[in-house]
Amino acid sequence: MTRSPSPDVLRAVAEQRCADELAALRSSDAGPRPPGWLLSPRAVRTFVCGGKAGKVAIPRKFYGDDALVERAIVTLAGNRGLLLVGEPGTAKSLLSELLAAAISGDSTVVVQGSAATTEDQIQYAWNYALLLSEGPSERALVPGPFHRAMTGGKLVRFEEITRCAPEVQDTLVGVLSEKLLAIAELEGAAGLVQARPGFNVIATANLRDRGVHEMSAALKRRFNFETVRPLDDLDQEVELVRREAGLGLAAQGADVALGEDVVAVLVEAFQDLRSGMTREGTAVDRPSTVVSTAEAVSVCLSAGLDAYYYGDGALTVDGVARHLAGAVFKDQRDDLTKLRHYFQSVARARAGRGARGKLWKQFHEARRHLPAE
Ligand SMILES: Nc1ncnc2c1ncn2[C@@H]1O[C@H](COP(=O)(O)OP(=O)(O)O)[C@@H](O)[C@H]1O
Ligand SMILES: [Mg+2]
Repeated sequence: MTRSPSPDVLRAVAEQRCADELAALRSSDAGPRPPGWLLSPRAVRTFVCGGKAGKVAIPRKFYGDDALVERAIVTLAGNRGLLLVGEPGTAKSLLSELLAAAISGDSTVVVQGSAATTEDQIQYAWNYALLLSEGPSERALVPGPFHRAMTGGKLVRFEEITRCAPEVQDTLVGVLSEKLLAIAELEGAAGLVQARPGFNVIATANLRDRGVHEMSAALKRRFNFETVRPLDDLDQEVELVRREAGLGLAAQGADVALGEDVVAVLVEAFQDLRSGMTREGTAVDRPSTVVSTAEAVSVCLSAGLDAYYYGDGALTVDGVARHLAGAVFKDQRDDLTKLRHYFQSVARARAGRGARGKLWKQFHEARRHLPAE
């Protein structure tokens, strides 16, 4: 991702950090566009999966299943919502942000679902001072994300939808099927908000939270479901981790060499712990924590910062191993035992063997950094 340095914000949104790419895609986009969209489905796919916009190279941002991305885009062009489901850290939020940035030019129309989410945080609320002094009026109305998306003809993102109470989720059924929002307090046309072309919903749900099965059948029918799976291709995940951690380090001005082999050891350990099986066919006890790609990026970033501030500016296996413990071991003693076992058996078996044998030996030796049980 081309990130223009914005020193005054910690994290620029997709349409800011990729503004140049989006402009290049818009000016070279000759494909047909669904009503209300800023880009054609082809250009949206290029933005997400990489390619060219005229002479400008567009880097890949979402790694993995390109067919899923295409289906997701097509769903959004139709009249059903899109629900991305999967384990935490599989880039569901990232994908929804990228799609909203490309299609609507705005990824900030978001509902962050939680047990405390209420209907007025989703649809609209009132400015109570004005409501009391003037009564219900358009001026007193405080549009919520759905109201804004409908009137603006934009995508609204609904993060972690299954964390919301079922009755709150169900308020969406009407909005999604009728594409209108009735505001009972306002009379006439003002009381009826009709969605403009371009409006649709991208929701995300984590499999580890309260299940998707608890969504009502009526709401499920309003969505096409897409399951986002963790990456299992070593090279792809290594590329992604190096790239994302590299961008994070660059944003801090930390010049760190992220050796490909060191990152490969990190990613391989993550893939083993995630799947419960090594590529040699040895069973591995899976920890209870999420060992996602997102966690791998964050371990790589921490180990990189460590190398920059305390080391000699090169990522080391020892640094990776030290930070790995903090990501995998949270509060379950059991996870520490599993991790220790991984260092003692899998890493040891690989030590001295193959192209990365030296690095696995260092990994095995780094078990001394694991907290005492
Ligand atoms: N398949 C992937 N493609 C690109 N980035 C990924 C992928 N899987 C994980 N990531 C990394 O994980 C980070 C966080 O993912 P996020 O969107 O928050 O996950 P989720 O919403 O599924 O929990 C992303 O910003 C990216 O750095
Ligand atoms: Mg998320």
